[in-house]
Amino acid sequence: MRTREVWRIQRAGALGRLERHTDSLPDPGPGEARVIVKAIGLNFADIFACLGLYSATPAGAFVPGLEFAGVMEALGPAVPPPGRRGEPPHAIRPGDRVIGLTRFGAYATAVNLGVRYLRPIPPEWSFAEGAAFPVQALTAWYGLIELGALETGDSVLVHSAAGGVGLNALAILAAVGARVVATVGRPAKRDFLVKRRGLSPDQVIVRDRHTFGSQLDRALAALQLDGFDLVFDAVGGPFFRPAYERLRPEGRLVLYGAADFMPKLARPEYLRLALKYVRRPRLDPLRMIAENRSVMAFNLIWLWDHADRLARAYDRLAHLMQGPPFVARRFGFNDTPAALRYLQSGESIGKIVLEV
Ligand SMILES: NC(=O)c1ccc[n+]([C@@H]2O[C@H](COP(=O)([O-])OP(=O)(O)OC[C@H]3O[C@@H](n4cnc5c(N)ncnc54)[C@H](OP(=O)(O)O)[C@@H]3O)[C@@H](O)[C@H]2O)c1
Repeated sequence: MRTREVWRIQRAGALGRLERHTDSLPDPGPGEARVIVKAIGLNFADIFACLGLYSATPAGAFVPGLEFAGVMEALGPAVPPPGRRGEPPHAIRPGDRVIGLTRFGAYATAVNLGVRYLRPIPPEWSFAEGAAFPVQALTAWYGLIELGALETGDSVLVHSAAGGVGLNALAILAAVGARVVATVGRPAKRDFLVKRRGLSPDQVIVRDRHTFGSQLDRALAALQLDGFDLVFDAVGGPFFRPAYERLRPEGRLVLYGAADFMPKLARPEYLRLALKYVRRPRLDPLRMIAENRSVMAFNLIWLWDHADRLARAYDRLAHLMQGPPFVARRFGFNDTPAALRYLQSGESIGKIVLEV
């Protein structure tokens, strides 16, 4: 048994319901390890979960958070031998620095988690960089490589390219050798992508919901492209159809989020959400056959039940990604609500991490 601090929400529905508590963490069970958390990665999904707008939100009270990094303190009994199906192919021992991917529960100073969800942190990475890695890198990899069937030379549209998933997507696209058009919500993010990520100004669109189609046409013309092979979209809303209409034959639109639904306030504005829901994009599947275009969608949390596939994904990512993820801003564990409000504002660039 160990005393720890957590941020818990009694019932999803408003960010203001997130409260700090002290509780007791039992000893790790069979196949589990206890990790003393040093850093926690924030995800847009955490906000959707707190607001009750995320399909996987637990019923009743829960501790948000999907990823963390820290030091393994203790192993539970009867840990299966390393290398078994679903287990990491390396032994992790107490005292090791680890990254953890968890189905909620990471906003805590100590966590018990199955060892198969733990990986060693690369020696040259900080705890913050470790905590920044799993969800957003795996999301980019799964969407672009597994579903999107990305190939060298593909033309790819990436939304929210200066965000956490977006920067990982850009790294994968560069490694594979794709031709990229990126979208962002604000000019400052465009400057960041041009100055810090080497994109040309023609490649980066500051999205405008009224003229998005012609913005895409201008970018495609400037890059001498006749359409997209792949669209990687977590925004949706009015930006979905213009991008879909510019898919080339055999083009794939991979949808993995709906940031356009994000409320501006600390609790959902249900009327505005209902209006967005009524106006959500719709497609005619018969036309899709004739046009030879596809739409795919996924939720990474599904992969959590397939730990063997997660382990393979980590290994493949290690070949694709050069260096640690970009941690743009760090907040103290005490400042968790402020960190979430900053992420919700849509202003953030790169990854936001809580340091414990
Ligand atoms: N399906 C999955 O399994 C999965 C897993 C991880 C993440 N996701 C999704 O991937 C997206 C990126 O996640 P992330 O954690 O890396 O966050 P992020 O991209 O670092 O931050 C979210 C970004 O969404 C954009 N956005 C668009 N409309 C917005 C609005 N109305 N309000 C606020 N922001 C808005 C903003 O960037 P711009 O304005 O520059 O576009 C904002 O910075 C999110 O939509 C998330 O839900 C899905």
